[in-house]
Amino acid sequence: MRALTWHGKHDVRVDTVDDPEIINPRDAIIKVTSTAICGSDLHLYDAYIPTLQKGDVLGHEFMGEVVEVGPKSTLKKGQRVVVPFTISCGSCYFCERHQYSCCDNSNPADNQDISDQLYGHPMAGLFGYSHMTGGYSGGQAEYVRIPFSDVGPIVIPDGVDDDKVLFLSDILPTGWMGAENAEIKGGDIVAVWGCGPVGLFAIQSAFLMGAARVIAIDHFPKRLELAKRFGAETLNFNDTRVYEALQELTGGLGPDAVIDSVGLEAHGLFVDNVWDQIKVTTFMGTDRAHAFRQAIMTVRKGGRVSVPAVYGGFIDKFPIGAFMEKGLTMKTGQTHVQHYLPGLLQAIMEDKIDTTFMISHRLPLENAPDGYKLFHDHQDVATKIVLKPDLAKTTVEMPA
Ligand SMILES: NC(=O)c1ccc[n+]([C@@H]2O[C@H](COP(=O)([O-])OP(=O)(O)OC[C@H]3O[C@@H](n4cnc5c(N)ncnc54)[C@H](O)[C@@H]3O)[C@@H](O)[C@H]2O)c1
Ligand SMILES: [Zn+2]
Ligand SMILES: [Zn+2]
Repeated sequence: MRALTWHGKHDVRVDTVDDPEIINPRDAIIKVTSTAICGSDLHLYDAYIPTLQKGDVLGHEFMGEVVEVGPKSTLKKGQRVVVPFTISCGSCYFCERHQYSCCDNSNPADNQDISDQLYGHPMAGLFGYSHMTGGYSGGQAEYVRIPFSDVGPIVIPDGVDDDKVLFLSDILPTGWMGAENAEIKGGDIVAVWGCGPVGLFAIQSAFLMGAARVIAIDHFPKRLELAKRFGAETLNFNDTRVYEALQELTGGLGPDAVIDSVGLEAHGLFVDNVWDQIKVTTFMGTDRAHAFRQAIMTVRKGGRVSVPAVYGGFIDKFPIGAFMEKGLTMKTGQTHVQHYLPGLLQAIMEDKIDTTFMISHRLPLENAPDGYKLFHDHQDVATKIVLKPDLAKTTVEMPA
């Protein structure tokens, strides 16, 4: 089959690789009909995440048609399913508590050491996201093996467009959990850093949870425009001092809750960011955490900090004084996707959440390397890229 494979920093290729096979009784194989490129994939493209190997198949946002089932799968051939990016057994200590992204059974023992040492405990399995998370082949491919197919995938009713439900695989539940973790109460003022797909879904979710005002921060005008569509006020950090503006917009109190949807590759010429960049370049550091630090400094006393964005290693200059003295609370984590699927599918079917507005490009899977370049180099134009395995290869023009 054809699949998008990783070969090194900024080097991804569509190769012919072995077809997946059923290995365990609970497995299923799906034929991918739509898959997307995520901000998390950019961390792989930029080679920030360790334990990727040349030839690994990437992709963790995908859906398709069930074409093969193991004897203990609950799926049926021909069903259309969206697959969560988190691989979860459904019955361990964590899965029983619906903390699916903490599953203790989905990352094979051989792959557990790195995250065990780095984080104190091993991570769960994730699709297409390095050997630290299980080394599973991902969904930017024609076919994918789905372990624990009786737990993860959600069956999609006939007649519903792929585009409408594809983002249930990750970014919609991630934006939703980002807002839920901000513990939004009616009338709250919420500030969201980053208007990528995760931030945009966090903004919609915050309003649905009762936020009175959402203030969105980024530097790409098109992404800020999308945030405005849902009623957010916007700040462009290229021409506005974000901390000062947020204090002014909140009568000096600061926002009630802040959501970091930027993560370890923060942009901007800020002293701490330049310092982080030097450390990352010289292998003395791992993450650029400017947005995270700014969110903590900005939020009001007693406020809530939610971090759906991904961080990988260690940061310094963490404002622990501000965090403690202001009495803040913080929640974060890879998304417990399975927990949110039924409710969010229903919200989509009832048109309570708009899921298609952010798609800027639909490209053939064969053009996936162009898609990565677009999403990485031209974020103002490329807001979300969907790949379709059944489209024929084309020529993709790069913006000037
Ligand atoms: N927790 C999870 O399970 C989960 C799931 C999916 C994605 N993520 C993470 O969420 C983050 C966002 O994902 P995405 O797909 O929206 O990515 P993205 O790269 O498309 O968006 C990030 C946005 O942040 C903006 N930004 C950069 N620096 C900023 C700054 N200093 N201040 C304000 N905005 C800034 C960028 O301009 C960009 O628009 C990534 O870190 C991704 O890995 C986490
Ligand atoms: Zn993703
Ligand atoms: Zn589990």
